Amino acid sequence: MAAGPEPNTLDDVPRIAVLPGSFDPVTLGHLSVIERAANVFDEIHVVVVHNPGKTALIPFADRVQLIQDAIAEAGIRGRITVTSWSVGLLVDYCVEVGATVIVKGLRGGVDVAYETPMAIVNRDLAAVETIFVLPDPRHQHVSSSLVRQVNSLGGDVRPYVPAAVAAFLRPDEG
Ligand code: PNS
Repeated sequence: MAAGPEPNTLDDVPRIAVLPGSFDPVTLGHLSVIERAANVFDEIHVVVVHNPGKTALIPFADRVQLIQDAIAEAGIRGRITVTSWSVGLLVDYCVEVGATVIVKGLRGGVDVAYETPMAIVNRDLAAVETIFVLPDPRHQHVSSSLVRQVNSLGGDVRPYVPAAVAAFLRPDEG
């Protein structure tokens, strides 16, 4: 074999993953996925992405702060960046930070149907693979939209969200 630099192996390259979402608000289900991804990848970027199809409850910057607070509150360790992205395709962010993988949580069949086209498009656009992680089954039924609805009707959302989010939604309680 010709002398020269050793070929890269998977071990030479930090495995960087992006966890995108609206996170409006971040839930205990999201947190479970973040924790699992942080255990698997060398570095993760949790990215709050503007979804033009959804009307937001919580301002963009607050969503980033709440995720940071929730990660600290849960004691999740690892190289974790929390940021936002609103200027283009999600895969542009992935390329910018050297991420080759997108991680999404899967709660069931409805999520499979919703996530599959996005995963294929992101692979077509920039060869970024999507990997699905199952959240803790205790949070299988939890979604941001359910939390928004329960909160808007005066219900207690504390079983579904980190304490920082509950305090943000109901600053007078607690
Ligand atoms: O939490 P959500 O709202 O289900 O997350 C969806 C999101 C924001 C990850 C998705 O809409 C997205 O990736 N938007 C960025 C725009 C983009 O890259 N679109 C093309 C590929 S889907």
